[in-house]
Amino acid sequence: MRIQKLIIPMAVSAASLALSGNVMAETWKMALGDAAGGTQYELGTTFADLVEEKTEGEVTIDLFPNGQLGSEQDTVNNASMGLLDLSVLAINNITPFSPTVGVLTLPYVIQSPEDAKTLTQGDVGEELTQNTIRDAGVRILGWAYSGCRRLTNSVRPVAEPADLEGLNIRVPKNQIMIASYQAWGVNPSPLAWSETFTALQQGVVDGQDNPYITIDTMKFYEVQDYVTDSCYVFSLQPLIISEGKFQSLSPEMQETVLEAGQIATEHSYDYLLATEASIKERLVEEHGMEITQPANDEQEWIELATGIWPEFYDSIGGKEKLDEVLTALGRDPA
Ligand code: MLT
Repeated sequence: MRIQKLIIPMAVSAASLALSGNVMAETWKMALGDAAGGTQYELGTTFADLVEEKTEGEVTIDLFPNGQLGSEQDTVNNASMGLLDLSVLAINNITPFSPTVGVLTLPYVIQSPEDAKTLTQGDVGEELTQNTIRDAGVRILGWAYSGCRRLTNSVRPVAEPADLEGLNIRVPKNQIMIASYQAWGVNPSPLAWSETFTALQQGVVDGQDNPYITIDTMKFYEVQDYVTDSCYVFSLQPLIISEGKFQSLSPEMQETVLEAGQIATEHSYDYLLATEASIKERLVEEHGMEITQPANDEQEWIELATGIWPEFYDSIGGKEKLDEVLTALGRDPA
């Protein structure tokens, strides 16, 4: 396993020296919000192995899973300030720092892995990458695809929004997600990802939402019984690098990390398609979770949640940004 001991990085940006023939090995730190295993880890290890291989061991990357380097939102701040090299985190935890990214977390915009790939690997992804550099001081090098976020809870099966009544649901500290639950008639509890398992375990909250792969990686089946097979947001997990770090690299090294990010992204997509169905089955067969289908093909959930879109037009850069996204997905902007 690639989780290595914490090594204090060399003080200077030595990657360029390493690549230009001066041997000065360097170790970079990569934060992961999730536990080892799952999509963040797959993306992170694939990227790290490629960089190590391409630099012939002059650059190694140590992974720190389970929020050891701070909450996912903290890691954006730290990378922005040059205190951290790399982080893999959920897109919803970058949005507070770079609001235009919110177009990817508007409910029911991304409806499948194919939609997610089209947006992240096309013009929309490129524009959002530039925006995060400008707004948050971090550059997106690659994407992990984790699948649709599914609602879980420990109290009862939930098929329609009215079933949420009385449930205390944890959400990320993300205004779009908070507003989605409010549209469904409840006031959710915004909580950092790093605090979520304990809050579920202690009954501080009754439920949360995340993809099947994340439910499995984080062992949420130990503290949650019911899953709603909903798909209100597709969980994208960007790999970010401190822009200061990126700019300190030689052109060759910049090319190396960009290429490694692209290959790791492609691997992540294949990993999702290859594993999600069996993980879902395991959650039921081995861990006893009960899966409920949303009533009426999720229509009521969709109608209520998409009603919040106009509230966020300003923050995502105008309605035209959403229209561009819908057009890229072959859907008719309303
Ligand atoms: C969250 O719910 O805050 C994130 O989606 C969790 C994650 O990074 O997997």
